[in-house]
Amino acid sequence: MKKYKVGIVGAGGVTELHFVGYKDHPERIEIVALCDPNPEALHAKADKYGVPQRFTELNDFIQNSGVEAVVVCTPTSIRKQIVLPLIEAGLPVFVEKPFSDTLAEATEITEKARQKGIPISINQNFRRHYPFELVKGKVADGVIGKVTSIVFTNIFFRQDVGWRQECERNAMSVMGIHWFDGFRQILGCDAVSVVCQNRSSSAIQCAGETDATVQVVFENNVVATYVQSFSSTFNRTEMIVIGETGTIVTGYNRAELYRKGDKTPTETWENHISREIATYEGLNHLLTSLETGVEAPNSSKDNLKTISILDAAYVSADEQRIVQLKHGILV
Ligand SMILES: NC(=O)c1ccc[n+]([C@@H]2O[C@H](COP(=O)([O-])OP(=O)(O)OC[C@H]3O[C@@H](n4cnc5c(N)ncnc54)[C@H](O)[C@@H]3O)[C@@H](O)[C@H]2O)c1
Repeated sequence: MKKYKVGIVGAGGVTELHFVGYKDHPERIEIVALCDPNPEALHAKADKYGVPQRFTELNDFIQNSGVEAVVVCTPTSIRKQIVLPLIEAGLPVFVEKPFSDTLAEATEITEKARQKGIPISINQNFRRHYPFELVKGKVADGVIGKVTSIVFTNIFFRQDVGWRQECERNAMSVMGIHWFDGFRQILGCDAVSVVCQNRSSSAIQCAGETDATVQVVFENNVVATYVQSFSSTFNRTEMIVIGETGTIVTGYNRAELYRKGDKTPTETWENHISREIATYEGLNHLLTSLETGVEAPNSSKDNLKTISILDAAYVSADEQRIVQLKHGILV
């Protein structure tokens, strides 16, 4: 197994997940460089994890770090200005979620990478951190029969500071992106239409929406109903997957199977994959794709279908209409 020299751009909150996730895999990943224009953030993180090379400027990092792959942990609002120069320099990229706030930007980056023959993968770490893959397996095994509906609730109180407060696309871009991606994993088919209403609560200081209700219809006729709130003083994150012969109810760490008439679950499955472990797995998918030439399951191309649902939800809310997708892509 080849070991890669990896660089990270952005030394903020999420970068911690990457350092912690990678440190258990020195046989695969060596973090040789960190880049952030904020010298305080840069040196604090580089000191903590013993990163030898430090850069405050992206071009300097690209030209002088000698990295073989790059992890992008910068604010979503500056995706293009960070990722395009990396692709131009021929560097494979592992990008934080959301790949972009808009399908147009995600498509532009994906097309540029295709032209240059550079793979990009996205850190959809909740595929494994939240039990989406676990439920996907149960559904594929026929445990609840044909799925009819998914009901998803993610409500809590969240006041961000800094760049996120300025983002016009907020709660769904921050959290919905995980859930849209998760519905796709479970159902294994494309979304065909999206309808959404969103609101911005005065309880939270931010430019974008804090609350949203979305319905996504999939090719297999399943309807996923998703409610998001960053303004709820009551916390709940729960997914209910309703099938013809049973229902699965999930939280972050477990999934429970209910049969007709049951007051308690017939079966319970645990899920203890941390965000850090799932993040390592995400980067490893990219590295494996470099070696095999086979497209990674978390490729940018695949992610366009997740971003399409996100973008369609915003278009639906703005234009007050049902938005149709073709082959999972917003057209
Ligand atoms: N996968 C997850 O579970 C998860 C969790 C949190 C955040 N994220 C994503 O990670 C990204 C970063 O979020 P965060 O919470 O770490 O933000 P943050 O504000 O904590 O950190 C961003 C860092 O990027 C740096 N930065 C700004 N401009 C830069 C530039 N031009 N070059 C290099 N560095 C620059 C900032 O100085 C800061 O240190 C976002 O896209 C967010 O959606 C993902």
